[in-house]
Amino acid sequence: MIRKSLLFTPSSIGPLTLRNRTVRAAAFEGMCVDNGPSEALYNYHTAVAAGGIGMTTVAYAAVSRSGLSFPTQLWMRPSIVPGLRHLTEGIHKEGAAASVQMGHCGNMSHRSICGCMPVSANSGFNMYSPTFVRALKKKEILELVKDFGKATVLAHESGFDAVEIHAGHGYLLSQFMSGWLNRRKDEYGGSFANRLRFTSQVMEEVMEAAARCHMAVLVKMNMRDGFRGGMELDESIEVAGLLESAGVHALVLSGGYVSRAPMYVMRGAMPIRTLTYYMPWNYVKIGVRMIGRWMIRPVPFTEGYFLEDARRFREVIRIPLVCVGGLFSRTVIEKALLDGFEFIGMARPLINDPAFVNHMKEAEEKGCGKDFTSGCTHANYCIGRMYTRDMVCHQHLDGIPKRLLNEFK
Ligand SMILES: Cc1cc2nc3c(=O)[nH]c(=O)nc-3n(C[C@H](O)[C@H](O)[C@H](O)COP(=O)(O)O)c2cc1C
Ligand code: SF4
Repeated sequence: MIRKSLLFTPSSIGPLTLRNRTVRAAAFEGMCVDNGPSEALYNYHTAVAAGGIGMTTVAYAAVSRSGLSFPTQLWMRPSIVPGLRHLTEGIHKEGAAASVQMGHCGNMSHRSICGCMPVSANSGFNMYSPTFVRALKKKEILELVKDFGKATVLAHESGFDAVEIHAGHGYLLSQFMSGWLNRRKDEYGGSFANRLRFTSQVMEEVMEAAARCHMAVLVKMNMRDGFRGGMELDESIEVAGLLESAGVHALVLSGGYVSRAPMYVMRGAMPIRTLTYYMPWNYVKIGVRMIGRWMIRPVPFTEGYFLEDARRFREVIRIPLVCVGGLFSRTVIEKALLDGFEFIGMARPLINDPAFVNHMKEAEEKGCGKDFTSGCTHANYCIGRMYTRDMVCHQHLDGIPKRLLNEFK
């Protein structure tokens, strides 16, 4: 018997039903103006929506100003609600659902943008940013918990169908969970239960706000941090269980830690020449060229690189799971669906081609669907560009020096 693919069938995340199993994973667009939405952000997400996606996720909104690392990043506040409403209306018109990823960059925030010394679980120096960091006081932690709840309400007022809380990749919630980073002596540090306390309190606040607004809640979390001493599967499976009991509607299973193992998130190598090509500051360019390859170590890319770990979660977690990471071909996507993952998260395939989902469908209709593959070469030029420019696939840019495009040849 020929099994019919689930890819183009609807499925639900809590109160929300998506038209198919595809989710545009949060990928920082770098398109905001004054930390609010822009026409470019509108054009990109409506193109992804018109391109057939089930739900598109607007990336990386800070729940408070102290959590910002880029001037082109969203910051959730009442004054941007009308602009976000325009954006979500555009997405809905194209038949897709809209989600916004929300979090706090913690020790990855930038003083000149976040307006204060960056904060984290403890004080120290973050070489990757680079910045001095101060430990959050208990009162401030509780204020941030409230900020996550307020941001959820703002997301609802902005017309989003879902919020995705960013608890991975070495940002603030992940910094608190990390036994490597979190050296606090109070009830937010020490034992694993204590290190989870901040995330639990945030989720309680978010779930309460979301229930009032009938919104879906996803959490993006790490299965492994990707460096020795970081979180591993034994702890992260417990985190997933805790989130499931907190009533979260779906988990996005990822990994990596921006200040220690950035390429674990996306795999492959960071194109250092591309990264520095876009930098306006000569002294930083020289420094990054000298130590970049040492600080940003490559991690081998294989298609569907998180699937093996994600299967361990599938065995014990009942809520819908979004798998993400190198799901570039229909063959691997089908494998993930067969493994019981409800949703397929994709970032680079949709940077390369916002209509990738429709193109998969068209190929299926022509009878060559199972061989269909994204045109993304996972050379990560879009990631090199991300730190200083807007999100564009280099394949669609004119005037890029050949020496950059051939960086890995
Ligand atoms: C340019 C770019 C920006 C990204 N920004 C974010 C982000 O803001 N938040 C996040 O959780 N992940 C971010 N990611 C990671 C993606 O969501 C995704 O987990 C990762 O790229 C693996 O998926 P892919 O192989 O489909 O690209 C980013 C990825 C790329 C390529
Ligand atoms: S720049 Fe490279 S990695 Fe990024 S989307 Fe384009 S082809 Fe893929």
